[in-house]
Amino acid sequence: MGTPHKVSDLSLADKGRLRIEWAESRMPVLMALRERFKKTQPLKGQRVAGCLHVTKETAVLIRTLRAAGAEVSWSGCNPLSTQDDVAAALAAEDTSIFAWHGQSNDDFYWCIERTLDFKPTLTLDDGADLIFTVHAKHKELAKDVIGGTEETTTGVHRLRAMAADGKLLYPVIAINDSETKWDFDNVYGTGQSSLDGILRATSVLFAGKVFVVAGYGHCGRGLASRARGMGARVICTDITPTHALKAILEGYEVMPMDQAAKLGDIFCTATGMKDILVKRHFESMKDGAILSNTGHYDCEINLTDLESVAKGKREVRANNEEYTLKNGRRIYVIAKGRLVNLAAAEGHPSEVMDMSFANQALGLCKLAAEGKSMKPQVYELPKSQDQELALLKLETLGVSIDKLTPEQAAYANDYSAGT
Ligand code: ADE
Repeated sequence: MGTPHKVSDLSLADKGRLRIEWAESRMPVLMALRERFKKTQPLKGQRVAGCLHVTKETAVLIRTLRAAGAEVSWSGCNPLSTQDDVAAALAAEDTSIFAWHGQSNDDFYWCIERTLDFKPTLTLDDGADLIFTVHAKHKELAKDVIGGTEETTTGVHRLRAMAADGKLLYPVIAINDSETKWDFDNVYGTGQSSLDGILRATSVLFAGKVFVVAGYGHCGRGLASRARGMGARVICTDITPTHALKAILEGYEVMPMDQAAKLGDIFCTATGMKDILVKRHFESMKDGAILSNTGHYDCEINLTDLESVAKGKREVRANNEEYTLKNGRRIYVIAKGRLVNLAAAEGHPSEVMDMSFANQALGLCKLAAEGKSMKPQVYELPKSQDQELALLKLETLGVSIDKLTPEQAAYANDYSAGT
């Protein structure tokens, strides 16, 4: 146990190990990569600093990176998402890890700084806080970093903005932009795990409720479909005309938030934008309205505004705070407006993180092999890799699919064939 670490309680390690084992049994693609990497050692000699939710699925990724020959140092990417038993298990198996549930802002950045102590050659982010810290406070470290990966939509936006500004110092792979990530994790992962978080914190019946989804991107799409599947009446809000049109053609109601605020029983924000729910919305909401956020940062529900119209606040259940407004109505906020799926539940299920983290592992291997010749830009993984991963996943599900015959393959490329 000589490896530097700071976790909440090492005695939770046995419980954490069992949880990791459970995740491993449901992440066959990543486990197959681990077996391959044990032999090929593609990350030998690399020092990977990671800043990503410390969950049982992340532990499977960390074990895989270590099996591939990397040294790893890790922090969580959200003050409320660390699973303390998993963090303890990782520390107990000599992973350098700095993470616990319920951190202050200072704790959060202290942990990131500790992962930089060992001078990484690769960085892995979810939200870009680690890479941003390197760029803002430790530029001298960047020259030894071959490259980085970024897990999420919000982080990729930040990094593309940095690259456009000419400020990015090393190449980054946008893991989020792989089809086997955004079209599965963002949709089915967010859809299920966010509802899971709302249910654990409230235990309410979804059937018959008006469920307001703010932001009909991939995450919003998953949320809306799962809420409807449980019998909720779904309203979507968005600022992008094509998103709004897609929601309408899916059969949801679409309207501005000023209108939806008055109608909703349960709200979930998934926009990546600040101030989606503000004072005027809170003042018009029904008594008992439940508010949650599944976007990366906690700025979507303006809690300062909510405090300003509230006369009292108390915790009524774990991860559930009741605000009594000056107008007498009560509003319930889940997990302080932080990522509801990770703060009030366990994050996306292992089966879907399997593909996201297979992309992460392959992204780091690509950087280790080719990063030195890549420019400081934001890159995507090859499209062919999506098909390889999806095929592997299908195989683990016992599903086989058709293949083109040679005649069909020729037809596919025959531009002269018409009527
Ligand atoms: N993001 C969403 N769900 C997650 C999980 N289970 N582990 C790590 N990151 C996540």
